[in-house]
Amino acid sequence: MQKTISKIPKSVKKVISIPGDKSVSHRSIIFGAIAKGPTEVTNFLTGEDCICTMKAFQALGVSIKESNDKVLIEGQGFSALKPPNHEIYLGNSGTGMRLLAGLFAGLSFKTILTGDKSLSGRPMNRVIQPLTLMGACINSQDGGKAPLVINPQNQAPNLHGINYRSPIASAQVKSSILLAGLNADGITTVSEPEKSRDHTERMLKYFGADLQINGLSVSLNGPNSRNNLIGQKINVPSDISSAAFFLVAGAILEDAELKLSQVGINPTRTGILDALGLMNVKFNLENIDKTGAEPIADILISSSDIKGAVIDGDLIPRLIDEIPILAILASQASGTTTISNAEELRVKESDRVHTTINLLKALGIEVQEKPDGMIIQGQNKKPFNPCKTAWQDLSEHSYYISDDKIVFDSHGDHRLAMSAAIAGLYSMKPIEILQVEFVNTSFPSFFEILQSIE
Ligand code: S3P
Repeated sequence: MQKTISKIPKSVKKVISIPGDKSVSHRSIIFGAIAKGPTEVTNFLTGEDCICTMKAFQALGVSIKESNDKVLIEGQGFSALKPPNHEIYLGNSGTGMRLLAGLFAGLSFKTILTGDKSLSGRPMNRVIQPLTLMGACINSQDGGKAPLVINPQNQAPNLHGINYRSPIASAQVKSSILLAGLNADGITTVSEPEKSRDHTERMLKYFGADLQINGLSVSLNGPNSRNNLIGQKINVPSDISSAAFFLVAGAILEDAELKLSQVGINPTRTGILDALGLMNVKFNLENIDKTGAEPIADILISSSDIKGAVIDGDLIPRLIDEIPILAILASQASGTTTISNAEELRVKESDRVHTTINLLKALGIEVQEKPDGMIIQGQNKKPFNPCKTAWQDLSEHSYYISDDKIVFDSHGDHRLAMSAAIAGLYSMKPIEILQVEFVNTSFPSFFEILQSIE
């Protein structure tokens, strides 16, 4: 499926409601399904990724009902999960596959986790290796790729706690190990080089687990936790990673004032706000509410003179999913923006160093690739107006530019498709984006909201 974005709006003043957080929505289903008693989730993200996680637990016998972003889960505890009668399809979702691999390692029966083409090419050894150290048995394809066959012998493994130093700051790795730790003997400790998002830790505590956090390390007492998880009420905050697209639109467009309501501002996710600050973007937080398990606030943003910046170090895990749209912001800055230490981008839904650079080139921006990021030459608030390319087809490149349009293949990466669409709001030539259907994995209402400001 393709879509063309072709208008520079004159003035945009709007309040925008962003759908629920993807990471929190996945976890609300997982914890609701293994806790005892009902869990009620509001503002659940009905994107395809989270729906796959929901269907996974339905296949294991859990009663889960969803309507109008509200979910009711009748959890009966981990031991009530039943063998599924088919493979578990997790679509495009790395979070779904890695978190469920950890949890399902503790089941007494075999499960098979599969995914789409992108997910089947992503590295799973980062969880298989520590889970194997805990006593799990997981078979994979081609040296650590999905499908994953967990407990191929159909027998309960004896999982035991480990003290694992993760070489990467990854919430998916940390969460996978902690979920396995729930069913392990003794204490499971994970430490990471920088702090990654901590939704799993927050939710474990909220559901009643025995968990200690000490700087960059988290310890879970499995035996004291596994039978003590009790169903809860969860109101999912709006997703700051989805909000980021409209934050950047607000900063770039002329005469713009946008208010994004009730967005999650968990400090492990607000790297994008720190980057906006470094880049001189005008924004404000209002109605900050820290009473729930996850803090929220309204974010107000307006047209800004943008400055280039250095984005690196421990900021990277706190804005890892926002880098493609941050690159669009950087392309409209005065001066250079350097993004470093972001090698993890290479193994996301696409190689996002490569696909982001292709998008910037399609927009006529000067950019240099680095193994761990990129250097972007900003064009200081000037609508995109790239020159015609020598080629006019997509056989060799992921984009081309003709006299009357830009064509960009998002390669099935939702965040690239949405970044291209936001760039389209500030482009002299219409931008035609290919494979936009993947936007439904994380932000099904994206084009509806975009249309309302076009
Ligand atoms: C996620 C963690 C991040 C992020 C992904 C969601 C999560 O991945 O990129 O979109 O929900 O735990 P890593 O933890 O592997 O960096």
